[in-house]
Amino acid sequence: MGKGKVGIVGSGLVGKSWAMIFASAGYNVTMYDINNEAVQNALVDIEAQLLALEKSQLLRGSLSPKEQKDLITGTTSLEECIKDAFFIQSAIPENPDLKKKVFKNIAELVEKDDVIISSSTSCLMPDIIFSDSARKSQSIICHPVNPPYYAPMVEIIPHDETTQDIRKRTREIMAEVGQKPVLLNRAIDGFALNRIQYSVINESWRLVQDGIMSPEDVDTVLTAGLGMRYATIGPFETIHLNAEGVREYMEKFASSIKRVSATFGPTPDYSGEALEKICDMIEAKIPLDQMAKRRARRDKLLAGMAKLLKELDSEE
Ligand SMILES: NC(=O)c1ccc[n+]([C@@H]2O[C@H](COP(=O)([O-])OP(=O)(O)OC[C@H]3O[C@@H](n4cnc5c(N)ncnc54)[C@H](O)[C@@H]3O)[C@@H](O)[C@H]2O)c1
Ligand SMILES: *[C@@H]1O[C@H](CO)[C@@H](O)[C@H](O)[C@H]1NC(C)=O
Ligand SMILES: *[C@@H]1O[C@H](CO)[C@@H](O)[C@H](O)[C@H]1NC(C)=O
Repeated sequence: MGKGKVGIVGSGLVGKSWAMIFASAGYNVTMYDINNEAVQNALVDIEAQLLALEKSQLLRGSLSPKEQKDLITGTTSLEECIKDAFFIQSAIPENPDLKKKVFKNIAELVEKDDVIISSSTSCLMPDIIFSDSARKSQSIICHPVNPPYYAPMVEIIPHDETTQDIRKRTREIMAEVGQKPVLLNRAIDGFALNRIQYSVINESWRLVQDGIMSPEDVDTVLTAGLGMRYATIGPFETIHLNAEGVREYMEKFASSIKRVSATFGPTPDYSGEALEKICDMIEAKIPLDQMAKRRARRDKLLAGMAKLLKELDSEE
């Protein structure tokens, strides 16, 4: 049994999710951490998560929770984690010097040129984290969305030296394990998700800062409006369907988009009065000591939505 071995470096929040994702697709997973307690806790937590997922009928893949759990082992030896793995997914703290060092070490342990060495980094550029690696041409970033098990998009960002073959195979593997990969042809600060997300945060903030709307109402614009739309169709399909095609949409609306966009103004400072107002609102609704409960709610809703969309889509 087992299709091939994946090495996970780092057994925190994201490392555990990756382990579950690869195991759900039938891969053997060896999860490494410098801290033995972290590895042992991660294995216990994964088993609990798999059972809970099955109970709520959200378990991915066709294997039982036990079969999936049996595919995952833990280690505190980086060498053991890397040995014979065809894909290495790292998920260690977001610290450039630490990542540089770890990717240097991984490159030294990898023996074959076709092994994919991947980082989960949210915002460190590939030329920085892989700068000391002797295997840049097979290194790449696979940036998941938190929580990766429920929000399937993964953005793939190559190093300038990453070969076309590694880019293509990374994308194929991500799709095969049930994620939704997107590929950037070259690295850009913020990658795609955060560039788009920051433009939303930027304008949401401004609407509160300028006293146009309450923070609650801005949230509703997204959750009950744009967010619902964007969970089903993206911005290009939206404009295509909202007119007789994109061309006609732009004939009608390009001038409005340009007029409104010209009023966006400078990037907010993200401090001062607007910060106080937004914190007051959100902390009244979700006190800082109740974050875990709210994160569990988020995960449940995301998982349910992903499942529902998949079912509805396959009925067509
Ligand atoms: N949490 C998120 O929302 C999120 C989303 C997408 C991407 N990421 C990225 O994923 C990466 C990991 O984030 P996380 O939230 O899982 O962090 P985390 O703190 O939960 O886990 C990090 C783990 O790495 C271990 N570690 C530390 N040094 C190590 C080393 N030298 N070798 C191996 N393991 C080591 C720690 O013991 C810990 O278990 C970061 O680069 C982060 O930017 C995070
Ligand atoms: C993969 O995991 C299965 C289930 O635990 C195990 O029987 C098999 O030996 C493992 N294969 C490898 C190559 O580790
Ligand atoms: C956010 O800030 C930048 C920088 O000032 C600005 O150009 C942009 O229009 C703002 N709004 C959005 C939605 O990105």
